[in-house]
Amino acid sequence: MKRRHFIKNAALSGAGLAIGNSLIGCNDKPSEEKKTESTMMTTINNSPIAICTWAFTGANAKAGEELSKGVKALDAAISGVEVEEENLKNTTVGKGGAPDREGNVTLDACVMDSDGDCGSVLCVENITNVAALAKLVMTETPHVILAAEGAEEFAYAQGFKKDNLLTEDSKKAWQEWLKSPEYKPLINIENHDTIGMLCMDKDGDIAGACTTSGLSYKMKGRVGDSPIIGSGLFIDNEIGGAVATGMGEEVLKTVGSFLIVELMRNGMSPQKACEEAVNRITSKNDRYKDFQIAYIAMNKAGETGSYCIHKGFTYMKYQDGKNENVHSDYFDKA
Ligand code: GLY
Repeated sequence: MKRRHFIKNAALSGAGLAIGNSLIGCNDKPSEEKKTESTMMTTINNSPIAICTWAFTGANAKAGEELSKGVKALDAAISGVEVEEENLKNTTVGKGGAPDREGNVTLDACVMDSDGDCGSVLCVENITNVAALAKLVMTETPHVILAAEGAEEFAYAQGFKKDNLLTEDSKKAWQEWLKSPEYKPLINIENHDTIGMLCMDKDGDIAGACTTSGLSYKMKGRVGDSPIIGSGLFIDNEIGGAVATGMGEEVLKTVGSFLIVELMRNGMSPQKACEEAVNRITSKNDRYKDFQIAYIAMNKAGETGSYCIHKGFTYMKYQDGKNENVHSDYFDKA
């Protein structure tokens, strides 16, 4: 029995609850029969694939190289997104991210594995590698989500080091913003935003990670879509996966990544499913001109797609040793 299952079962039996693993969404790995069937649907040459939001070239290359060495999808995705979590020049992810209105950098992240397990951390201060922390919530606790101080304390207990996430550059930009503090999220901020990554490994298994510092100068305590399973990221290893970037509030209202995976389950290609998920937002919200949303998706056959509201979103795709920047089609052609 995996450690997580042991802890989860122990926690539940301690509470006097006789709930089986399947009822709490904690199934064991798919049966060999199922696995063979789904693996047969995957890439023709078992060539792994990594895709990620925006032109995060190094992050996607890192994940692709890990996959090529045989690393499993989730660990490859976490290694990939860590490149941006540690990139001090990136003001939308990890250390160096823009702070909230009070000057605190708070990070959100989640991961989801091919067996349907997931972990998430919200509003975490002083920890850089929050995607790796989300994985530990998944593997080492009976929970899916840990927030704020609880997540930070858990990180220290797991050996993470305390880090000051507010760089001098981010601090200066925030102090400048304070001079006329208007809250106006930018479209395609600096041509990047949240990094969401999907990986398919040599076994054809799909997993993903999503990590962000959230909207610049957000209200204290604000959390967007990125750490919310189903909104910022969703994986069903029998079908595929999706991740989101952009205005989290709008992704949350339509549970965008889950929607895309369900549309793929019903036969849509990743491209069509991303288009439909964007259409759900634009058809219900005439303020769409003021914000950007972008999705990327991958199915079990290794097909990928993406769609966004406004021109300018690109994503990375690594396959067969090639790491390419792909320009996404977009909704607002007016
Ligand atoms: N998509 C990132 C956020 O809204 O926080």
